[in-house]
Amino acid sequence: SEGRHVGRTAYHFQPAKNWQNDPNGPLYYNGMYHFFYQYNPHGALWDIGNLSWGHSVSGDLVNWAPLDTALDPTAPFDINGCWSGSATILPGGTPAILYTGIDASNEEVQNVAFPKNPADPLLREWVKPSYNPVIALPADVPGDKFRDPSTAWLGRDGLWRIAVSAEVSGVASTLVYRSADFLRWERNAAPLHSSRAAGMVECPDLFPVKQHGKDGLDTSANGPGVSHVLKLSVMDTLQDYYMVGRYDDAADTFVPAEPGRGDDVRNWRRFDYGHVYASKSFFDARKNRRVLWSWANESDSQADDVARGWSGVQTVPRKLWLDKDGKQLRQWPIEEIETLRRKRVGLRRDTMLNAGAMNEIVGVAGSQADVEVAFKIPSLEGAEALDPNWLLDPQKLCGEKGASVPGGVGPFGLIVMASGDLQEHTAVFFRVFRHHDDYKLLMCTDLTKSSTRAGVYKPPYGGFVDIDIKEHKVIKLRTLIDHSVVESYGAEGRACITARVYPEHAQTSNSHLFVFNNGTGTVKVTKLEAWELATATVNVGDEGFIVS
Ligand code: FRU
Repeated sequence: SEGRHVGRTAYHFQPAKNWQNDPNGPLYYNGMYHFFYQYNPHGALWDIGNLSWGHSVSGDLVNWAPLDTALDPTAPFDINGCWSGSATILPGGTPAILYTGIDASNEEVQNVAFPKNPADPLLREWVKPSYNPVIALPADVPGDKFRDPSTAWLGRDGLWRIAVSAEVSGVASTLVYRSADFLRWERNAAPLHSSRAAGMVECPDLFPVKQHGKDGLDTSANGPGVSHVLKLSVMDTLQDYYMVGRYDDAADTFVPAEPGRGDDVRNWRRFDYGHVYASKSFFDARKNRRVLWSWANESDSQADDVARGWSGVQTVPRKLWLDKDGKQLRQWPIEEIETLRRKRVGLRRDTMLNAGAMNEIVGVAGSQADVEVAFKIPSLEGAEALDPNWLLDPQKLCGEKGASVPGGVGPFGLIVMASGDLQEHTAVFFRVFRHHDDYKLLMCTDLTKSSTRAGVYKPPYGGFVDIDIKEHKVIKLRTLIDHSVVESYGAEGRACITARVYPEHAQTSNSHLFVFNNGTGTVKVTKLEAWELATATVNVGDEGFIVS
């Protein structure tokens, strides 16, 4: 329909064509949102020498107009690629970009770029001063392991700081550089963090969060009532991990709130238990919130990417805040997504889901929907006992105890992107386990039946949700379905799972949507609302189209 390629999303950020990966330099400036991203203007695959910064603008973070690329590999300090980086709003309001250039000797260096005309609300042209690089490759860092400068923040001494990823003597390190003028940068002797076990890490993000409340903070905020989050992307697992802690701007040190998790970032917390990477946040001064972007790569083959002519989407921008527990972050789709809600179906009164129940949600297009459902657990009595070994590998547990394996309390959840004969379907569900005197809540997205196609990555995804089930007898789930994306927010944003799906039936027929319970215990659906979502205007406008 509409000439749309199967799998192309309707409201997730994608360029009109070609390859995209990491989100770069998101910022809010003069009433306009800017989004940049790793982009190959020449094709649908990542190409080491051909990375540019794609650039789009938006008035609402939902509808996007494409602009020309902001940075291209043209200078000796970036001739082999303009890699990831971040934007900082300087005093006086002008933005600056710091990014990694792959220079003429194929070494990673850090460069700066400024808007050619700060009065242009679209910030169309960016100037890369000839004095670049502003940070050369240090002697103790290999040429291919020094990249991804973060947004800068100001310390009390008036100096700017940035975090940069590097491998120092074989150790994955997050280096801090200080500068008075954004031009001369000096490395702090001690890294902000180092992780011997994890190999190279990428795309560091350090940002403040309020200890109480959902409002976001400018990246330079610090002091009483403020905690910090350090997020790192780990190459060998292709996963993002974060830790809440205390950042000290005198020594430039970060003290984790959960030292028990150790220095190996692979034991830290996850933003998402699914298929996302290289996330980056920014402070949205318009709505006083911190917003997180993440890249979700394709899960089918490179040949498929080439045939489609594009690859990669961004998750829906997410508002981010610190939970009352001081340790976990909560995430929720930015409220502007709700402007796309059209046709709504709902429940008039509570529905009991007995063992084996599977109720179809009819009346909305199942491939472009927003579903919110609340499950009330009348009794925890029948919960299955947890084998402590399962705590180590929730993803494996989601595979062994899939939606079709009956349990005590759960599995209950949603079946999405289902073909009429159910041969193809994706299950998003919860299962409660008894663990000593306590309970554990598992959240899964199982892709094993998502497509009958071969050559597609179809794992089960999952994680344990950090929630006190005895206190919270109502478990909520929100799932955003967008053709090839199933993006789920469990337990009010405590656990997220983003998955890519490629069902064959979607080429010729509708996708169905169900709510189900496959536990022996009854669960009550106390709320169910599903909306069909309109197609957003994402990078399909005419050249020069301006968002009002
Ligand atoms: C992460 C990453 C970054 C790098 C960019 C290159 O996905 O490898 O470290 O700057 O992608 O496209």
